[in-house]
Amino acid sequence: MVDLTTTYLGLNLKNPVVPSSSPLTGHFDDARRLEDAGASALILPSIFEEELIREQEKMDRFVVMQDIGHHEADSFLPTAHNFESKLDQILEKIARYKSALSIPVVASLNGITDSGWVDHAKDLEEAGGDAIELNLYGMNAEPGARSEAIEERYHHIVQRLVESVQIPCTVKLSNQFTGLMHFVTELEISGAAGVSLFNRFYQPDIDLETLQIKPQLNLSSWQETLLRIRWLALLRPQVKFTLAATGGFHGFQDVLKALLAGADVVHLCSVLLKGGPGVIQDILGGMSHWMEDKEYESVQQLKGSLSHQNAVNPAGYERENYMEVLDSYSYSPGVRV
Ligand SMILES: Cc1cc2nc3c(=O)[nH]c(=O)nc-3n(C[C@H](O)[C@H](O)[C@H](O)COP(=O)(O)O)c2cc1C
Repeated sequence: MVDLTTTYLGLNLKNPVVPSSSPLTGHFDDARRLEDAGASALILPSIFEEELIREQEKMDRFVVMQDIGHHEADSFLPTAHNFESKLDQILEKIARYKSALSIPVVASLNGITDSGWVDHAKDLEEAGGDAIELNLYGMNAEPGARSEAIEERYHHIVQRLVESVQIPCTVKLSNQFTGLMHFVTELEISGAAGVSLFNRFYQPDIDLETLQIKPQLNLSSWQETLLRIRWLALLRPQVKFTLAATGGFHGFQDVLKALLAGADVVHLCSVLLKGGPGVIQDILGGMSHWMEDKEYESVQQLKGSLSHQNAVNPAGYERENYMEVLDSYSYSPGVRV
């Protein structure tokens, strides 16, 4: 029997397969099925900055209306008891999951401005969350937005988050940073317990009939893992904190590659939305067989063994690889004269 245990944000997990934020982790019965199928932890759907700010404004308006007090109208106003916010729902969910499941439950905050919304992390901790993932999903397309200023703002949000709670905090990132290596190493210095690499951006399409912008939600494909694997391998020797892989990981082979490159855990979403929780069993079974076959005794042993530092041909992760790849192109028959 191979030992699949790993560590994630200081938590000991029975294996490296962790479902990431999705509607599936947000439904209690599905969460239980994920645990039964072997998930070693799960991340709840995000609560968004926009929702927290909107709810706070609604609450403020409500309090003002109560203060002004119109006797006949009072009965039409919601009372503090029936004003259940999205935050309340998440807090109840965390408490329920914690009492019924035995795996760690990670709460997720999602936002990009440096303001009070991030202080709600404290509520998530008090409800029983084992860790917090902060998703910095930002386009940063405002004219004049300098990279340095954006990165400083992000660091500030992370610092504020880390200072507001005792539980570990991890940051879900895009790969769109000019100095990604520096940004991630600075996150470790700021007190983050890890990063999740990388967010997938949902690109809108243009409908040529209606000339409207159409939002698109396409699930991922395995090819997206390659960007993650490269950065896991490059980052692993540079940081000590948790590296989590997210984006395109569907089969046991993808999961193994992420671990070999340097991931501590691998997040699954699209494959679970398509195939259901049972996919986790197949992945864990496939991993165990491969490891036995290759005589690996533990996940610990294979983690990072093909990182930039440990690979026999580290240049494969570098720019050098770019020229070789271009040179390797071969035309299909009949394309050239
Ligand atoms: C329907 C759906 C809902 C999602 N909701 C969230 C969310 O609330 N917060 C978040 O950080 N990521 C969310 N994600 C992103 C996933 O957690 C994951 O990072 C991404 O889909 C890449 O992983 P995959 O290739 O395994 O799907 C969502 C993805 C999908 C498809």
